[in-house]
Amino acid sequence: MTLAVHNIEVVYEDVMLVVKGASIRVPRDGIVALLGANGAGKTTLLRAMTGLLDVHRGSITRGHVSIDGAPVDTRRAADVVRSGVSQVMEGRRVFIEFTVDENLRVGAYTRGRGEIAEKLDRVYGMFPVLGERRSQRAGYLSGGEQQMLAIGRALMADPKYILLDEPSLGLAPQVVERIRDLVVDIRRSGTGVLLVEQNAAMALSIADHGYVMENGKIVMDAPAQALRDDDDIREFYLGTGTGAGTLRDVKHYKRRKRWLS
Ligand SMILES: Nc1ncnc2c1ncn2[C@@H]1O[C@H](COP(=O)(O)OP(=O)(O)OP(=O)(O)O)[C@@H](O)[C@H]1O
Ligand SMILES: [Mg+2]
Repeated sequence: MTLAVHNIEVVYEDVMLVVKGASIRVPRDGIVALLGANGAGKTTLLRAMTGLLDVHRGSITRGHVSIDGAPVDTRRAADVVRSGVSQVMEGRRVFIEFTVDENLRVGAYTRGRGEIAEKLDRVYGMFPVLGERRSQRAGYLSGGEQQMLAIGRALMADPKYILLDEPSLGLAPQVVERIRDLVVDIRRSGTGVLLVEQNAAMALSIADHGYVMENGKIVMDAPAQALRDDDDIREFYLGTGTGAGTLRDVKHYKRRKRWLS
């Protein structure tokens, strides 16, 4: 049982080659980290996996994606969700005018009415803080709570696999810990996780396997433990080398903060 990307190539606007032959595998019972600097192509790879490239004028020009061995037509996002893959996009895109409850119900659009109550109970069980605020508008939630809502919404579709695009971005350390624990719970409940993170330390602390993407290519593919011990990873992603990694993270954080505001 695996979600797999086979040697995929992605082009934007018919000319910009952004993903240059990348392969990754996410087992149903695993957490897989995808690391890489800004612009490496991580989000683009996720879009290719969930049929969201169309919206961004992108297309797959080579390779394919398969879910549990079956090739999927990645062009239609709703079909991908029905096949069991849900994505939480960068920047916690919740509907701020909708209540918490309404946001979660939107996530179950591929499910029958009868199932929704059961899924809601499950998500509120995982996120008690959302249950307490179910009638409140999502725009009034804190950043961390909005991220939990975005994850909860993806779980409403009861996915086999969930793709999380930088869930810890801009959150306080305790909230990042909470998200990390949640990711572990999600895996335990039988959903495979692909975790895209700039916070490499967090991602590698819970991942079983990791990939590093640079300039559209997968340049490292190894068990998480091996990546935690690797000198380059320590230097550039964990900031425990000479400090170069830390510097880059600070620069990155400032850039992203500007982008989000
Ligand atoms: N819709 C688009 N049209 C054209 N180019 C795009 C589009 N979206 C992304 N790109 C370009 O593709 C490259 C990869 O972007 P992508 O967002 O996939 O990177 P990323 O690894 O997710 O980066 P980050 O860590 O900043 O989120 C970048 O050079 C970006 O400018
Ligand atoms: Mg991205």
